Amino acid sequence: MNIDDLDLWRREFPILEHTVYMISNSLGAMPAAAADSLADYARTWATRGVRAWEERWWEMSREIGDKLGAVIGAPAGSVSVHANVTTATAVALSCLQPRPDRNRIVCLASDFPSTIYLFHAMESLGWVLTIVPAEADFSVRVDRVLDAIDERTALVALSHVLFKTSYIMDPAPVVAAAHEVGALVLLDGYQSAGIIPVDIEALGVDFFTGGCLKWLCGGPGAAFLATRPDLLRTLRPHLTGWLAHRAPFAFDIGALDPRDDAMRMMGGTPSIPAYYAALPGLDIIKAVGVDRIRAKSKRMTARVLELADKYGFPSVASRDPERLAGTVAVNPPDALHVSRALKARDFLVDYRPGVGIRISPHFYNTMDEIDRLMADLAHIVEHKAYDRDAPSPSVVT
Ligand SMILES: Cc1ncc(COP(=O)(O)O)c(C=O)c1O
Repeated sequence: MNIDDLDLWRREFPILEHTVYMISNSLGAMPAAAADSLADYARTWATRGVRAWEERWWEMSREIGDKLGAVIGAPAGSVSVHANVTTATAVALSCLQPRPDRNRIVCLASDFPSTIYLFHAMESLGWVLTIVPAEADFSVRVDRVLDAIDERTALVALSHVLFKTSYIMDPAPVVAAAHEVGALVLLDGYQSAGIIPVDIEALGVDFFTGGCLKWLCGGPGAAFLATRPDLLRTLRPHLTGWLAHRAPFAFDIGALDPRDDAMRMMGGTPSIPAYYAALPGLDIIKAVGVDRIRAKSKRMTARVLELADKYGFPSVASRDPERLAGTVAVNPPDALHVSRALKARDFLVDYRPGVGIRISPHFYNTMDEIDRLMADLAHIVEHKAYDRDAPSPSVVT
């Protein structure tokens, strides 16, 4: 099959009929099958009632976790499912305890701030946070990360792909340095899983987080935590609940007797509708194949950069295709207003301070759409076809 045959998947995504959807770094397009799957959820609830728990729902986290595991090279039974990446990160961190001689968390200034907020909040429990500074282009130098790691480090938490610039970090030296001093590594793969090939066993990380919302086209509410299998069996998260229990329906109030699989990392009743919403996207990504997604993505990001150069828009995106994942940020004057004008014209993108307009084609986009988006962008910029004084419609950008 030629990689352009991926265009055939367009018919599975209704929003592509009337918008140029270039925002899969934020919210992947909804597969039509997600509506059927959610209807299946409603039918199950309506007709099977409470029996749904024993018939499927109780073990559905395991089912979704294993499907996610197949995308990122995680063995069956090693992926737990959580409401969002921040919660998944909190669960991983709750497996550790700050000790006076080992109380440091190292993260990156270019990580997604939500996890940094979590780490700051954890300082009141005795953790000490080191944030490795970013360069002017928002990339983070690996040697600076390595300098921040020492015997006091308990956890190094870093993004696999930086959310503003789509820069692909090289986790290998970080994993080696962290393990050398006895620290664990958590890789945030929200901007990598589903758009670049990921093999977490080969990466050797201890934890890997991500979610279905973005490149996996699964909607909100189904994020995940993959835990290295040999480590998993030794962990006792403080953030826990009855899903983690080996015999939850014994309702024993003694200390929790944890399951052997990744469900031991889970807590209370999971968001079953989110699971139904996520299933079709996972099946589609598997059918398309991340290698083919990456091949097409590279061609499309190269085209965005070529046109950014032609129209004279600055971009912090790496010019090395091996270091650039799915997004190209371009930064024309008044980028926030330009991004709003684009959205009003059904070209869906977003805006992030410092880097400008993030353009994120996925396997269902076409080269023609990229050309049209960039031409419209250039037109809006040239004619200042936006209202700088218009009140912000929302806090969301
Ligand atoms: C790299 C990365 N991590 C985390 C998040 C969000 O985490 P959460 O699921 O907690 O909202 C995002 C969202 O955009 C992200 O890009």
